[in-house]
Amino acid sequence: MKRKLLGLGLCVAMVMSMFAGCSKDAAETSAGGDKLVVGFAQIGQESGWRDAETASIQFYAGQNLDTIELKFADAQQKQENQIKAIKSFIEMKVDVIGLAPVVETGWDAVFTEAKEAGIPIVLVDRMADVGDDLYSTFIGSDFILEGKNAADEMATLLGGSGKIVELEGTVGASAANDRKTGFDDQIAAQYPDIQILESQTGDFTRSKGKEVMESFLKTYGDEIKGVYAHNDDMMLGAIEAIKEAGFKPGVDIKAVSIDGVKGIFEAMAAGEANVTIECNPLLGPQFFDACAKLKAGEKVDKWIKSDEGIYRQDTAATDLPTRKY
Ligand code: AHR
Repeated sequence: MKRKLLGLGLCVAMVMSMFAGCSKDAAETSAGGDKLVVGFAQIGQESGWRDAETASIQFYAGQNLDTIELKFADAQQKQENQIKAIKSFIEMKVDVIGLAPVVETGWDAVFTEAKEAGIPIVLVDRMADVGDDLYSTFIGSDFILEGKNAADEMATLLGGSGKIVELEGTVGASAANDRKTGFDDQIAAQYPDIQILESQTGDFTRSKGKEVMESFLKTYGDEIKGVYAHNDDMMLGAIEAIKEAGFKPGVDIKAVSIDGVKGIFEAMAAGEANVTIECNPLLGPQFFDACAKLKAGEKVDKWIKSDEGIYRQDTAATDLPTRKY
């Protein structure tokens, strides 16, 4: 509900007013003060994972108000809003720009503007398809490996054979492209008796995940023995659809997804999901550490990789209280 209210027509006005309110401020700070001034162009609020990433970044900045000034923009899942945000950050003369790119392509022009203004770009959690010279570092996961691990887990659950469906993330997002490549390639190479009946986007949201799973169930019914979702939110939607269609998720239809949010641990503990491949959204500390180093002219690794695990149903109940997001 909250997401819907903030959506559509309101988004551009909201993003722009955020900038109108803080641009003068930021220019003065970055021109005069010693604070690290960072602009962060977030994708939106499409999933629990995304909310956890936003909270991690805002919490870290909030804990370090004496040294960090964060300019935060929510692009409501639109690339045009992220581009507007980056242009505003350039005008504000921030020290570093952080971006979780909603899609991979279409960034060359605005990244070039940032480069010409001498402002480094830090890519957070998703990659952009640009030359190495246009960004300073990428902080995040190996999405291809996540997809490959998901394929191995699905194959184990199915005993090596069965028909499955796939719920993809946002069209054009690196997280969706790579999780699909990693999974589909591993199935094709290692598990010839597993057939992907159909693969469609659920846009990383619970509501779309449910909607697409409903249509898969109408078409294929009890042929479906497994569902792979590029994130947990879509899987949580799919689980609702499976139950409404009269099947048992996690039993009749095996469920493997990516992220590791609390909701999927609850579903696994209830026996309704089987495996989640962790993808860490708590990137605030690493992000600001990289920004501070870049401001100081220090070298940072081109890819700062996240450490992640694989979690299964048998330990979900004991893992649940330890989950941070
Ligand atoms: O880019 C990371 C992905 O984006 C997460 O897996 C998903 O939940 C989010 O929306």
